[in-house]
Amino acid sequence: MNVHIRQLATSLASADGLELFAADAIAGLAAERKRLPPKYFYDRAGSELFEEITRLDEYYPTRTEARILADNAGAIAALVPADSALVEFGAGAATKVRILLAAAAHVSAYVPVDISAEFLAGEAARLDHDIARVAVHPVAADFTRPFVLPAAIRGKPRAGFFPGSTIGNFEPHDAAAFLRQAAQVLGKGAVFIVGADLDKDAAVLRAAYNDASGVTARFNLNLLTRINRELGADFDVDAFEHVACYNRMRARIEMHLASRKRQNVKLRGLTFSFRAGETIHTENSYKFTIDSFRALAREGGWTPRAVFCDAENLFSVHVLVADAPR
Ligand code: AVI
Repeated sequence: MNVHIRQLATSLASADGLELFAADAIAGLAAERKRLPPKYFYDRAGSELFEEITRLDEYYPTRTEARILADNAGAIAALVPADSALVEFGAGAATKVRILLAAAAHVSAYVPVDISAEFLAGEAARLDHDIARVAVHPVAADFTRPFVLPAAIRGKPRAGFFPGSTIGNFEPHDAAAFLRQAAQVLGKGAVFIVGADLDKDAAVLRAAYNDASGVTARFNLNLLTRINRELGADFDVDAFEHVACYNRMRARIEMHLASRKRQNVKLRGLTFSFRAGETIHTENSYKFTIDSFRALAREGGWTPRAVFCDAENLFSVHVLVADAPR
């Protein structure tokens, strides 16, 4: 495998990235209901904590999706055109793509796109070592915004890969917009393999986001540590606690950081006041039915082609085909 690290130059640690982070943090903390965008969870520590979450007993999505991919790798690979470039949106540790790449000998290039340039470089190098027949072209970018695919894959059919139910971390209208943007990036006729967590018993969902060893709590609180370090804020991290609850009406898990007391926090010369118990809403994780996901896919410019689930219907992997541009 041939890794093109040069493409990592577009690091999000750039001044622009930092100013965008500051603007998002200030706008979120100034809102009547305080919020912070979940994409900022994933600095180095956050990415590592998320990898730890994926190995927790309570967090069923990762192992269930991996099992679905392994059990159906041949059928999924058969839906991917020959000589395709596989573009993974938010590649992280790139573990699941290995299952697909092992079954899809006809995929000739892999483009992991991830916000965490440092993390991406390490994973790309590991893949480089492990799978020699695929050219790897990492792109360090925020995949929620338009980005340019590497010139090296020009002319190849494209397949997208978006596992993990990260689609569930978007608000529904943003999820549809993301799908439309992915259709534009990948082009007409592309296939898109998307993992979507299924709605289920509330106790199972609550346990998955309130693990007994507190890893999810550390993941959530790390956002404040990151804001202190990168933006010079003075959050007293111990004065906040992790809260995750299931909102059945909206079919979503909500994560919040609740202030344990009345307090003020300074960020870039601004003061943000917290009441005791007031929360910062940090993440929604929407859960789907097969039909609700398919409706979303259609709204985003994709036609559902196939779906694969585990025996307990915990998780779904959809294969979609891009509609002609409207
Ligand atoms: C990345 N994403 C799909 C995870 C989820 O389940 O919504 C993020 C996460 N948050 C807490 N635990 C895991």
